Amino acid sequence: MHLTRQEERVYEGECGWANQTCMRILVRLGELFGAEKLIPIDSAHVSGVSYKTLGDAPIEFLRALADADASVKVRTTLNPQSLDSRYLGRKLPRHVKEPQLDILKQFEKMGLTESLTCTPYYLQRPKRGSHHAWAESSAVVYANSVLGAWTNREGGPSALAAAIIGKTPDYGIHKTENRQPNITVKLETKLQNETELGALGIFLGKTLGDKTPAITGLPNTSRDRLKQLCAAIATTGMANMFHLDSSRTKETEKISVDSKQIERTIEELSTASTSQPDLVFLGCPHCSLNEVKRIAQLVEGKKAMAGTEFWVCTSCHVRQMASDYVKKIERTGGHVLDGVCTVVSWTEKLGIKKIMTNSAKTAYYAPTLNKAEPMLAPLRDCLKAAFQR
Ligand code: F3S
Repeated sequence: MHLTRQEERVYEGECGWANQTCMRILVRLGELFGAEKLIPIDSAHVSGVSYKTLGDAPIEFLRALADADASVKVRTTLNPQSLDSRYLGRKLPRHVKEPQLDILKQFEKMGLTESLTCTPYYLQRPKRGSHHAWAESSAVVYANSVLGAWTNREGGPSALAAAIIGKTPDYGIHKTENRQPNITVKLETKLQNETELGALGIFLGKTLGDKTPAITGLPNTSRDRLKQLCAAIATTGMANMFHLDSSRTKETEKISVDSKQIERTIEELSTASTSQPDLVFLGCPHCSLNEVKRIAQLVEGKKAMAGTEFWVCTSCHVRQMASDYVKKIERTGGHVLDGVCTVVSWTEKLGIKKIMTNSAKTAYYAPTLNKAEPMLAPLRDCLKAAFQR
């Protein structure tokens, strides 16, 4: 890999251990994937923030970087943590809160903003054609496919290294030739809601692996619904982007998806045995302002069902903008949680065994990460389950 004179100095340790370590991570990654150089990035987004998913081992590494004065060179946001201060922080035991606070402290020392969201594009939308190093898979697919920004799917350490160096190796979909569609997906059914978009993503992720699809049959789909497709396709597969226009597909490979495949995918993701969930969860990926507004309008004046928790997850940024809607939701007995999400939180410690959600990604992970049975259904059905009639 070709390094500039300044990059070489960093690589050799002339700019300190932290910078050297990060540069070595990036160069190793670049060499593995055949990158010829590093390119500057506009922003980074770091995953591996929740203590639940991170565990103890990486905390030492974060502390070592922070103590060695590592500091980010570009705007860098953080993925959700495992609890929020308003609600879950009061319910969960100290032995999980303290390490979580320690993780946040180390990130803060390095200059990462306490954004704590998987939808960093609502805080600042990346420009079309700009390069980034993002590590949240749902945000990566959304950035590439919906916003036209360019980012590989980073791991937590490589996104942090890129943030500290301000650059990323030039490989993968930072290169025009790797952004071209190489399979056409013909959708032979009209998808009715966000849950069906998510089911399509789960099905395509499993079927396509790392191929980049051009999907036909999704005209005028809202960005909020496409967000479900982005999250789900990255859950089961390695595609980092899709196209909604098949005109650039040169390859002849084609597949069709019909309503039966969508229905079967939803059924497979709905394994809970009885109908009343312990938790109804909306906000995977984190809700947009529009989504919080819609939920507030639909639940206004209702009363949350006794014995069923109702959570809406979003970023602190959106929560602040949506304060009137948040009040409406919370008057029902539900909770708008910011900076956290169900999947990376300790729901099992709260006795939650059945989770109903409109998100295919959450339904996919609930059995393993939450030890809970999932029920996947669109927003209106979720609200019917969460509120008294
Ligand atoms: Fe975001 Fe958590 Fe879903 S990080 S994409 S809300 S699993």
